[in-house]
Amino acid sequence: MESPSKYLLAIETSCDECSVAIVQRSQRSVEVLSHVVFSQIELHSPYGGIVPEIASRNHLEMLTPLIREALSNAKIDFKDLGAVGVTNRPGLIGALLVGVSAAKALSYARQIPLVAVDHLHGHIHSLFIDGQRNCSGLETRHLPLLVCLVSGGHTNLYLLRDLPPHDLNIEKLSESRDDAAGEAFDKCAKLMGLEYPGGKHIDRLAKLGNPRAFKFPRPLPGDTLEFSFSGLKTAMSMQLTQLGFKPHVFGDKDETSLPQGQVLNDLCASLQEAIVDVLTTRICRAIERTGAKGLAIVGGVSANSRLREKLSEKAKIPIFSPDLQYCTDNAAMIGAAAVFQWERGEALSKSEMLKLNAFSS
Ligand code: KG4
Ligand code: ZN
Repeated sequence: MESPSKYLLAIETSCDECSVAIVQRSQRSVEVLSHVVFSQIELHSPYGGIVPEIASRNHLEMLTPLIREALSNAKIDFKDLGAVGVTNRPGLIGALLVGVSAAKALSYARQIPLVAVDHLHGHIHSLFIDGQRNCSGLETRHLPLLVCLVSGGHTNLYLLRDLPPHDLNIEKLSESRDDAAGEAFDKCAKLMGLEYPGGKHIDRLAKLGNPRAFKFPRPLPGDTLEFSFSGLKTAMSMQLTQLGFKPHVFGDKDETSLPQGQVLNDLCASLQEAIVDVLTTRICRAIERTGAKGLAIVGGVSANSRLREKLSEKAKIPIFSPDLQYCTDNAAMIGAAAVFQWERGEALSKSEMLKLNAFSS
C-alpha cells in the first residue's frame, strides 16, 4: 500500500505578503521544498501604510498563481499533497479570508486535512526550519528559551519550555500596551519622509548617525516586562517641529521641509537607539527573571542590525534568529507550525474544516 503523503502546502495572507510554501517533516525539524512570496510593499508605499482593501484584492489575484508556482518549484502536483496549513489569525480580516477560503477549497477538493495556524506561532516556528545558519544549534539545553517576537504588529515576549515535535508549552510573558516596535519604526520613518516600511531605511541611515544627538523617551520605566512605543510618534513629531521641519503626515512630500543629510542620520540613530534600548532592557530583565538558557528573536524587526549587535553584547546567553527570508512574513514558518500540529493530531476534522473562520485578533 502507498504510504500517505507528508507534503504540506502552507498559505500566509494575514497582511501584505502573499506567500505559499511546500514543506515536509524532516528528521529534527521542517524541510522547505519550495517557498514563494509576493510582497505588496510597492502597492501600499504611496499611502505610507497598509490599505486593507488593496491588500485583500491583491491576495485574491496572486494566491492561485503562487500556489501553482510553489507546487511546480517543489516538482509535485495537487494529488501529492497530504495536508494544507493556513494562517487564520491574527491579521487583516479581508486578507486572512482570502487565504482561509483557498485553503478550505483545496482541502475539501482533495479531501486532505486542514490545519489552522496562529500567525504568531508561525513566527516562533520560523526557528525550526532546516538549514538555517543561526538556528541549527538550538537544542533542549537552551530551554527554557526566551523568544522575543518583534514585528510591525507585535512586540511580545514568550517562554518556551519544550521544542518540536512536542508542544512548545508556550507562556506569554508580555506584550506592547499600544504600538509595536515595527510600527514605531514605520510611523516615525513616515514623519521624516522616508518610504514605507521605514524600519530598514532607519537601520541603514542610523549607521551614519550619532545615537546621542537627540533624546527620545524610553517609555514605561520601572520593573516591567511590558512595552509601550506609541509616544515615540509624538516625540519625533515634536523634535522635527523644534528643528524647523514639517512632519510628513500624508499627501505629496515637500522635500525642503523634511530632514536631509546628517540631521536625518542623527534622528534615525537616536530613534533606533531608544527602541533598541527598550527591547534590550526588557529582554535582559526577562532572562534574569526566568532563568532562560537561550534567546531567540523572530519577526521583521529582528533583522535590525543594532538590535542584533546590542543583544549579543548584553544577553550573555546563546542567541538564535532565523535567516532574513524567514524573519519577515512567509508561508514556510506557517508550514513549520502546521506540520507539527498535524503530527500531534491537531488538524481539523472534516466536519470542522468547512466552518473554519478568520479572526483579526
Ligand atoms: O514580521 P513582519 O514582516 O510583518 C509583521 O508581521 O508585522 O515585520 C515587518 C516590520 C516592519 O515594521 C518593518 O519596518 C520592520 O519589520 N523591519 C525592520 C527592519 N526590517 C524590517 N525594522 C527595523 N530594522 C530593520 N532592519
Ligand atoms: Zn508577522
